[in-house]
Amino acid sequence: MKICVVGVGYVGLVTAACLAEAGNNVICVDKDAEKIAHLNDGAIPIYEPGLAEIVKHNVKLGRLNFTTDLKYGVDNSLIIFLAVGTPSLPDGSADISAVLSVAAEIADNLSDYRIIATKSTVPVGTHGKVAEIINSKTDKPFDYVSNPEFLKEGSAVEDFMSPDRIIIGTTNPAVREIMKQLYSPFMRRSNRILFMSPISAEMTKYAANTMLATRISFMNELSVLCEKVGADIEQIRQGLGSDSRIGSSFLFPGIGFGGSCFPKDIRALIHTGTQNELEMTIAKAVQQVNKAQQERFANRIKEYFSGRENKTVLAVWGLAFKAKTDDVRESPAIFCIEKLLGYGMKIRAYDPEAANAALTALDNRIETSPNGIDVLDGADALVIFTDWQEFRNPDFKVIAARLKKPVIFDGRNLYGPDIVKKAGIEYYSIGRTPVTPSKS
Ligand SMILES: NC(=O)c1ccc[n+]([C@@H]2O[C@H](COP(=O)([O-])OP(=O)(O)OC[C@H]3O[C@@H](n4cnc5c(N)ncnc54)[C@H](O)[C@@H]3O)[C@@H](O)[C@H]2O)c1
Repeated sequence: MKICVVGVGYVGLVTAACLAEAGNNVICVDKDAEKIAHLNDGAIPIYEPGLAEIVKHNVKLGRLNFTTDLKYGVDNSLIIFLAVGTPSLPDGSADISAVLSVAAEIADNLSDYRIIATKSTVPVGTHGKVAEIINSKTDKPFDYVSNPEFLKEGSAVEDFMSPDRIIIGTTNPAVREIMKQLYSPFMRRSNRILFMSPISAEMTKYAANTMLATRISFMNELSVLCEKVGADIEQIRQGLGSDSRIGSSFLFPGIGFGGSCFPKDIRALIHTGTQNELEMTIAKAVQQVNKAQQERFANRIKEYFSGRENKTVLAVWGLAFKAKTDDVRESPAIFCIEKLLGYGMKIRAYDPEAANAALTALDNRIETSPNGIDVLDGADALVIFTDWQEFRNPDFKVIAARLKKPVIFDGRNLYGPDIVKKAGIEYYSIGRTPVTPSKS
């Protein structure tokens, strides 16, 4: 099929590359001329496991093209995907101006029937606004599909190639068949396409993200109670997750969720509730617990170094909002580092992929290193923000020897307290009793 994907970010580039990998011809359009020039030079603007290989492969075969020319994309495709950003506005609502402006531009260039499918996460009712704009500018025929994306950064290619479900929001049976055919290469084991109305498709995306974030906040709130009563949140997590009615995903306690989706989508859901005179009490509580969890972690470090904050140097492992991505948007690491810098502390950080993005987000107010060992030298403590695989089994003797005093603040519960204790390291994690090695 001939496809156009507008917006070549985390979602758009993965969508385009995976659709090209399935044999479709895909034109990627972005207004960011520099990004398009880099892509045309063979550079991949984001880190996503497995993405570079399939982009390069499909560019070589001529199935994947990059341009800033939307008209070219509209002229040469049957299905046009919108994958532009929908960031939060100050009132918490989702800014759909990019979606609407692309819709208007598509309408201006429409010369024949097209299917316009939205992958961007958009508030309920956006399908009506898009249709209204296009209808106001052209009488050419088109269909609209709400096709929210559920991929996860860090496993986006895998998620796209083997999705839990594909949601197609349209009432037109002919469009359902076309979308079914497009997604059939990714449904070979079983059919996981769910058809529904556009409004329900839009709502499902917000419901899914808020539900996942709810599980995280619930565990984080429990972790605080665990610390107060002396229970171990990791044991509780296993006890909970082994219940087949609950399942084990998204039950990891930590420093709170971040990223470009959960926080903004919860804000947008709350806003949609307000617009409809409904207080979204659960979503608000999820948000509140998440903020408190991030603050609690930064405060714990501040309290430990109380009175000598401006003499404190922290070695940091992890800046991305989660492992296997270079994305630092609303990363709890950035939130906590901002606080710690505000207390006068110095930060030397290592992240396998996100150092550059973090330097930009923090206006170069931290130092970064290309490896995790050098940052330890002479630092007052090691702080872990991101659960990268390479942090999971370190040489604790090296950590203890390089730090000024062996202390770890672990925001991801990467280590067993007994192992850290044996290495003579003071260890603060989430929802577990702190480890303070005896001075023998
Ligand atoms: N990142 C994720 O994990 C994820 C997962 C599911 C859904 N989503 C949703 O998908 C959407 C895109 O997210 P993302 O993380 O890929 O965003 P992103 O910021 O990485 O990419 C958006 C791209 O759109 C381009 N763009 C903006 N306005 C444009 C315009 N008028 N014309 C052409 N290009 C334009 C930008 O230049 C950018 O390259 C959002 O609505 C997001 O909520 C994201």
